[in-house]
Amino acid sequence: MKETNPSPETSDEMQQKEQFPMPEIPRSASPVPSLTSLHATPGRGPYGDSRYRGNCSGLLIKDLLMYFQPRSVLDPMQGGGTCRDVCRELDIPYTGHDLKSGFNAMNPECFCNLPKFDFVWMHPPYWNMVRYSDDIRCLSNASSVRSWEMRMRHVIRNCASVMSPRGHMAILIGDGKHNGRYLALPFRVLHAAALEGLWLAAPEIIRFSHGATSSRKVYSSKLIPRLHDVCFVLERDRQRSH
Ligand SMILES: C[S@@+](CC[C@H](N)C(=O)[O-])C[C@H]1O[C@@H](n2cnc3c(N)ncnc32)[C@H](O)[C@@H]1O
Repeated sequence: MKETNPSPETSDEMQQKEQFPMPEIPRSASPVPSLTSLHATPGRGPYGDSRYRGNCSGLLIKDLLMYFQPRSVLDPMQGGGTCRDVCRELDIPYTGHDLKSGFNAMNPECFCNLPKFDFVWMHPPYWNMVRYSDDIRCLSNASSVRSWEMRMRHVIRNCASVMSPRGHMAILIGDGKHNGRYLALPFRVLHAAALEGLWLAAPEIIRFSHGATSSRKVYSSKLIPRLHDVCFVLERDRQRSH
């Protein structure tokens, strides 16, 4: 899509920013009452390396960890270490790996010597939107979106194998288009997780993409801009019919 120069913010846009409050939050016994299916907090917090391409905010991770109160956390694709730094602040034992340091999350052997974890945080490449390396094992180098989905399924299976019985797995995923066609990555992730015996432990969380580079672009054609990622919090599906 062709980009043109940004124009100044219109008064409509400025009004919209100020006018729309969030829906009311029902009272509950949640230890994090502000954690809802809409995660709109701007900023990323002092976590991880903000220069790491494709890094995410630590604020949603922090809310999830305060909610689930895990005794240990695994991030198999830690990139710039955002989850690591949140765990450090919350004093939760953390194990982090990445393909860049030789850990291939698709390979079950890499998980053989790992203990069980109460919480797995995963923020995989959104297929080829950012290329993280030339390593063919990198999910960003999958030859097609179907191959990316298959790879995700292996990663989810391996991570599920080191989840404690009360464990949860949170997967943050965005979406985009390839050759003009929506990829539907969140739907593919949920499908892959269901095939591996996992299901939603919470509503899908819509995480507002404050500060995304794509928001600063200007397009000459009309489009409905995507302003969010999706975070699935999963657990073992005890009601799964075999
Ligand atoms: C979206 S980034 C993670 C960013 C991280 N959440 C942060 O805030 O910095 C995805 C990461 O997955 C890693 N990765 C891709 N394929 C992998 C694989 N097969 N095994 C392990 N890590 C992989 C990439 O190297 C990259 O660091």
